Amino acid sequence: MTDIPRGSVEQQTFYEQVGGEETFRRLVHRFYEGVAGDPDLRAMYPEEDLGPAEERLRLFLIQYWGGPRTYSDERGHPRLRMRHAPFQVDRAAHDAWLRHMRAAVDDLGLAPEHERQLWDYLVYAAASMVNTPG
Ligand code: HEM
Repeated sequence: MTDIPRGSVEQQTFYEQVGGEETFRRLVHRFYEGVAGDPDLRAMYPEEDLGPAEERLRLFLIQYWGGPRTYSDERGHPRLRMRHAPFQVDRAAHDAWLRHMRAAVDDLGLAPEHERQLWDYLVYAAASMVNTPG
């Protein structure tokens, strides 16, 4: 035993364990399909083209889960609560956001333990983004 094989599960990041960029691409793409078809939520997104917003969320999640740090290279420190301050994130927006995320997570078909880790984080993060009562 001279070498510990690279890529054994203990050494892998969550990002790698769930399938790397492709998995996050699918997750966020599916999520934004939901946003595109939800007039109330869609109205919150300032840009006509959802593509750039999709890329920002994808790069953020990739970085958060241990993948490449492209998000911060391009956008700086995430400071997500501050970046959401211009938007009225109330209970209805929170619920809609999580509903579309739930559908997107379900479509990934992850192992139950990975799915739970990802989902718990998204629930926690969504709650922390609420900035408007009601
Ligand atoms: C709770 C409901 C949420 C709503 C209604 C919401 C809404 C929005 C809107 C309208 C934008 C601007 C779109 C853009 O131009 O990028 C945005 C950006 C973003 N959101 Fe959310 N968001 C929510 C939760 C979250 C959560 C939980 C996360 C992280 C897990 C997140 C991550 C991001 C990121 C990374 C950006 C782009 C920030 C930047 O670099 O400018 N959002 N969100």
